[in-house]
Amino acid sequence: MSKQLIHKVENHFKAEFNVEPLMVFSPGRINLIGEHTDYNNGFVFPAAIDKGIAMAIGKSDTDRSTIVSLDMGEHLVVDLKNLQRIEDNTWKNYVLGVVSEILKTEKEITNFNCAFAGNIPIGSGLSSSAALENSLAFACNQLFDLGLSKTELIHISQKAEHNYVGVNCGIMDQYASMFGKNSHAIFLDCKTLTSELVPVHLCDYEIILVNSNVKHALAESGYNDRYAVCQKIVKLLNKPSLREVSNEELNALKTKISQSEYNKGLYILQENERVVACKDALKENDIETVGQLLFESHAGQSKMYDISCIELDFLVDEAKKNDSVIGARMMGGGFGGCTINLVKKSSSNNFQSKISKTYKKKFNRDCSIYKVILNDGTRVIK
Ligand code: GLA
Repeated sequence: MSKQLIHKVENHFKAEFNVEPLMVFSPGRINLIGEHTDYNNGFVFPAAIDKGIAMAIGKSDTDRSTIVSLDMGEHLVVDLKNLQRIEDNTWKNYVLGVVSEILKTEKEITNFNCAFAGNIPIGSGLSSSAALENSLAFACNQLFDLGLSKTELIHISQKAEHNYVGVNCGIMDQYASMFGKNSHAIFLDCKTLTSELVPVHLCDYEIILVNSNVKHALAESGYNDRYAVCQKIVKLLNKPSLREVSNEELNALKTKISQSEYNKGLYILQENERVVACKDALKENDIETVGQLLFESHAGQSKMYDISCIELDFLVDEAKKNDSVIGARMMGGGFGGCTINLVKKSSSNNFQSKISKTYKKKFNRDCSIYKVILNDGTRVIK
């Protein structure tokens, strides 16, 4: 968590609104394994990170609420009684969505002022959107003493995304950002919303993210199409979700769906198995198996679920060729963003400079590299 970021937000808020704010921090997340399984009631294995969104909030004594994005240099001024989605896909819809979902709970909130800024690269698959949703939902809950539980708050965040942003996302990002714990990953069953915190000890390895700098906006990508394919399969099988579907049942559907739809269903079934295997391997300090599962997961994401892109495939192929990398895959919604790599600490610098050079040479574009620190979930910081 960056002190500079927090001071910037706090100082801006005080200068603009002349009161002491309540300060909240909400992190982004990584995901070890389990991609697109969340909206299929499956398993995921994410963790909150030390990068995120710092938010300052305070009550307003006017008849409007003002929300300031310092990163965008933009203001949103709203009348709580008349909230409307904005047509362009903008940060404002995340904010409007959260406020409107809070109002639906019939809890009382009055006008407020708020300023926020973040240090998660947008569109990189690190869930800047969940960090924004959670920071506002959590901050309003504190400020107005709404008495909503953290679980209620993440559902507010998720519905904001469904209803205002237009992405049929699962619950992984909001859950990880809210419930993350220092040095732990969260093995989450998205069907029951029960979870297990697993310490992340990678022995001689560390997690390195390589950002392809290919930006994705899930609302415009194939994300909702993937969701629709999964829905089609479960409807045909008359099941609540792919979690309840067996390999045999999916095979029986082969003549009724296309090969590509079949592959997508099969990917979800296999990915769920990999998440469970990965959790077990991590608990046994079997980093080799964890790494192998990451490579297998990428193959499924790229060839079966079709959510990778040439830049991500290239980064994973290069990582695979490198002896110091024990596992790598694309991470998050896909179509761009980061790869997650398990890299031997002693040769990590070498790996980083090598992959930067080859990526630049191939695509004439820079990649960005981040070392990941796992940290706590959404919290009051002042
Ligand atoms: C995005 C969504 C999540 C999840 C991932 C893919 O981050 O917000 O709900 O589906 O993609 O695993």
